[in-house]
Amino acid sequence: MGKLDGRTAVITGGASGIGLASARRFAAEGATVVLWDLNAESLALAAKEVENDGGTAHVVEVDVSRRDSVEAAAARTAELAGAVTVLMNNAGILDDYAPILETDEDLWDRIIGVNLTGVYRVTRALLPAMLDAGGGTIVNTCSIAGLVAGGGGTAYTSSKHGVLGLTRQLAFDYGQQGIRVNCICPGAVETGMTKELFAAGEAAVMDSVNSVPAGRYAQPEELANLALFLASEDSSFSHGAAFVADGGWTI
Ligand code: NAI
Repeated sequence: MGKLDGRTAVITGGASGIGLASARRFAAEGATVVLWDLNAESLALAAKEVENDGGTAHVVEVDVSRRDSVEAAAARTAELAGAVTVLMNNAGILDDYAPILETDEDLWDRIIGVNLTGVYRVTRALLPAMLDAGGGTIVNTCSIAGLVAGGGGTAYTSSKHGVLGLTRQLAFDYGQQGIRVNCICPGAVETGMTKELFAAGEAAVMDSVNSVPAGRYAQPEELANLALFLASEDSSFSHGAAFVADGGWTI
């Protein structure tokens, strides 16, 4: 028996990196996964990966920073796969480690719009059906940048601190209605988002693998294992909490 048998899971940013690794993990545990992402082509490739493992995947094109797009995606998801009882808010974008004087309003709005307002919008769109279904689990992808400064620039760090606050407030407000909410706080993970950065050794704290006590960056699958723990009943008394997986970066 799978840990997510009978569940429908939406994973935003599900076409690559941590989102795709989590989708594969959730599907392997019996969930029907619905991948939400920007681009039809990468979504199709991602769905194929889930299906090659023997899982069931649907895809929905969406821009989580746009309200109309999120509402349309929620409606399409209901048609495709019924009520969602697992939500992983994972879509995110990184800035170029910009301090505030280099963070113009466009950059600020773009990062906050995807990383924080996106979580707000997607959760608002899917939570009513989750409540109607009797409950569910929400896993937000935060970051060590949600806990400490220096893991990202001004907008990214602010957005991720916001994700932690939103996680806690959601947990506070909806725990008694059967909604369990937690977030994961990865350190440096080798994905499309960080590939060039790591190669160039650019970001303030991501300048060297030697900054990580574990002596290496993470693979997306290592975060997927944590996401599965939080999405499933294995974590039944974890609520409103932030789970760090950073190879010791913030110790
Ligand atoms: P990734 O770039 O491989 O995946 C992010 C996905 O989000 C992409 O498929 C992208 O198309 C999608 N996306 C971006 N903007 C979107 C939008 N407006 N609407 C819908 N989808 C959108 O990167 P990764 O690393 O897998 O990132 C996943 C999450 O993990 C992000 O929230 C990121 O901030 C977080 N994170 C990543 C870390 C890392 O070192 N890679 C460290 C800490 C947190």
